[in-house]
Amino acid sequence: MNPVKIGLLGLGTVGGGTATVLHRNATEIARRAGRGIRVEAAATLDLERGKELGLEDLRLTKEATDIVNDPTIDIVVELIGGYTLAKDLVLSAINNGKHVVTANKALIALHGNEIFARAQEKGVMVAFEAAVAGGIPIIKAVREGLSANRIEWIAGIINGTGNFILSEMRDKGRAFNDVLAEAQVLGYAEADPTFDVEGIDAAHKLSILSSVAFGIPLQFDKTYTEGITKITPEDVEYADELGYTIKHLGITRRTDKGIEQRVHPTMIPKSRLIANVNGVMNAVLVQGDAVGATLYYGAGAGDEPTASAVVADIVDVVRAMTSDPSNRVPHLAFQPDQLADTPVLEMNEITSAYYLRVCALDQPGVLAAITKIMGESHISIEAFIQKEPEPGVSKVDIILLTQRVNEGNMNRAIAYIEALDVTCSPVTRIRVEALG
Ligand code: HSE
Repeated sequence: MNPVKIGLLGLGTVGGGTATVLHRNATEIARRAGRGIRVEAAATLDLERGKELGLEDLRLTKEATDIVNDPTIDIVVELIGGYTLAKDLVLSAINNGKHVVTANKALIALHGNEIFARAQEKGVMVAFEAAVAGGIPIIKAVREGLSANRIEWIAGIINGTGNFILSEMRDKGRAFNDVLAEAQVLGYAEADPTFDVEGIDAAHKLSILSSVAFGIPLQFDKTYTEGITKITPEDVEYADELGYTIKHLGITRRTDKGIEQRVHPTMIPKSRLIANVNGVMNAVLVQGDAVGATLYYGAGAGDEPTASAVVADIVDVVRAMTSDPSNRVPHLAFQPDQLADTPVLEMNEITSAYYLRVCALDQPGVLAAITKIMGESHISIEAFIQKEPEPGVSKVDIILLTQRVNEGNMNRAIAYIEALDVTCSPVTRIRVEALG
């Protein structure tokens, strides 16, 4: 049988990794796929890139449209990122009857609904395993391995760069910008690294996980997104003292009112396995009603780990190319006409426990004023720390850990605390999840 022909769009970190893995493991991959898989051509602005990768024979072009319009190419692999040119190229490839594999989380999160609908019309597959958690096969696990379950919640460390920064800051006391620069050199960070540190990249990935877990259309715009830039060494220390680690988590949870979809720094008990996931590693915890909790761990970024997911998708597509399109695994796990309109909740509708750090004057009545507000807001305090102030300093940090409460309720209490004459604004708030 003739080999399946692949066209790569992009030959950067992930594109280079994909070409390398396909070449190095060609025999093993063909034994799995049932056919040879050949990279026919790659689009890149750097025509020396083939030589750099040791793939001198690879046909290179600067024109991405050469690839999507090439009638000999069966599968277009989009690895250029972004959502303008990438969207046009992916839709053109689909219109030309080609299957698509992409690692582009932004593209899927923002335009996946439209792309999948077009693919459905054309009877082609769009595979996107590498879009979430790099090399971890989490889409396959949720979409296929857990299809017996009613998924209850997912919580994941799904941005390697952010986790690398938090780990290095905590363990080695390194400065934020220094660690970020290293993540950029290592090829972990997005082209615009604010996507990593402000949680946008994690929000792209979380909205994809939420859709495949709960069978709802992709709704990136409804994901609450908070980054890691405001985490201070003091918060890391207080969290540690209370028995917690701060991680940047994406959390999606089914509730009676709708679906929570949120990315923010989160304090989790140090005893949880996921609390010990460090560096560029990702981990995703999935709670299903039948299986209970399952945890998936691995490299969340980097050339060959991401290529591992891209190539696995290519193999899946090759295996299913001759199957009836109506019998393929649905893009969002649930049949397209079975997607639900369950609402994604506004942030003030979610519930969480909270860590609050209140900077206040060290004088009589301050603590009473704060606890009065908490009592009147029906917020129960679980733990409390106040240290003796340094000599000559008139302000102290008051640390409160609360029970689970509605976020709207907590917002009002924080506003009252910030309005007191004896406190400084703003109050630091970190959500706390037991993940039990
Ligand atoms: N910038 C992303 C990360 C790359 O650091 O996780 C993988 O999606």
